Amino acid sequence: MVQNADGQPVRIGVVGLGTIGSGVVRLLVDSADHIGRAAGRPIEVAAAVVRDAHKPRDLPLPAARISTDIRTVSRDPTITLAALLVGGLEPARSMMVELLEQGKDVVTANKALLAEHGPELFDLARRLGRSIAFEAAVAGGIPIVAAIGECLAANRIESIRGILNGTSNFILTRMEEDGSTYAEALAQAQARGYAEADPSMDVDGTDATQKLAILTHLAFGAWVPWKEIPRTGIDTVDIDLIRYAGELGYRIRLVALARRADGRLALRVAPALVRAGTPLAETRGAYNAVSIVGDAVGRMFFHGLGAGQMPTASAVVADIIDTVVGRAAITFRTTGVLSADTPTARLAGVDAMERHFLRILVTDRPGVLARITGILGDHGISIASVIQHDPIDAGGSAAGGRPGVPLVIMTHQARSSAVRAALDAIDASDVVHGRSACLGVLDE
Ligand code: HSE
Repeated sequence: MVQNADGQPVRIGVVGLGTIGSGVVRLLVDSADHIGRAAGRPIEVAAAVVRDAHKPRDLPLPAARISTDIRTVSRDPTITLAALLVGGLEPARSMMVELLEQGKDVVTANKALLAEHGPELFDLARRLGRSIAFEAAVAGGIPIVAAIGECLAANRIESIRGILNGTSNFILTRMEEDGSTYAEALAQAQARGYAEADPSMDVDGTDATQKLAILTHLAFGAWVPWKEIPRTGIDTVDIDLIRYAGELGYRIRLVALARRADGRLALRVAPALVRAGTPLAETRGAYNAVSIVGDAVGRMFFHGLGAGQMPTASAVVADIIDTVVGRAAITFRTTGVLSADTPTARLAGVDAMERHFLRILVTDRPGVLARITGILGDHGISIASVIQHDPIDAGGSAAGGRPGVPLVIMTHQARSSAVRAALDAIDASDVVHGRSACLGVLDE
């Protein structure tokens, strides 16, 4: 084992021994020599805090070091650093405050906490002379926080395009590749430890939106309340949409977008069509991807596991090492990251000019197609292709038991506001069943 000058290991606390916390303990023990060399001294988990101390745990950590009391970490003067690996807002927020006030540096993976309370917590840390490191909060194992905040610091970032939720991507690719149902794929994602404790945060786009708010802050130096970012999740996507997109040479991905637009920022999280064979389309399973354009570096693409125990532990332990070495404190102090003084972003309205993919369930009778295309034409929307699919089951309804037959339309480039207005008119028509689906198409 590597020893520091006085031969003593650095004693840390781990708050939360769920999927990520357990992975962090395992990694620190299994790779102790290697990690100790990187940190310049051994790192020892001196105390861990859990909700239920009696729950059986198969961890290389003596039971005597596990308690339900945060003060076993916060009030131990020999512990200087805590990994806060509890999800959600409370008690995570109070725990962070307690740890900072008791003089601990903090490493966390909790993106919801940062997106909701980041500025107040980071300013508190600064006032107290402490640091918060959060590489694991965005895109799991991909070192995107360091990449944007440090490695690309010379660049004016023009845009970010990313797949930021591993659970959603896993579900979409399972449905696409082996025909799993949405429910089956979600259950698998949960069993593999990808999903949040409340998986609706994954599938309704909340998690990806919170991560986009953090990346936007790092890349554009502006604070965005995450709830102001337009958000649609994959809970709006069904197997038919995936199949129809596939027939046109596309895959559906939950894509987070941020770009400069005339002095404002255009942001959104939504399922979109990406052309098969492109890097985003080939991002499968629990992988995440981030494509960034910087004025000096050009376009960069990052790809790696964005969810799951050990990839996320990899990022947490990297932050622990950075904190032990002292790099985290320097970065934290000098970059002023997540300060309440950061200007709030001015958001551009989301009125993208792009192709749109529509699925409209219509009554199958003469003249219907002409009515639909007529409404699109009236709104100035030009059509690239129309496919009418046969009803799939014997009852004359589309797959999934929906009434009507599916019309799948690919438009030419059109304003999303015009497409929305046309769809409102189409959906109000007596030959249309339910609400039509509309996804943007990301061609480049
Ligand atoms: N639930 C998250 C995801 C975990 O699926 O991406 C990583 O933040």
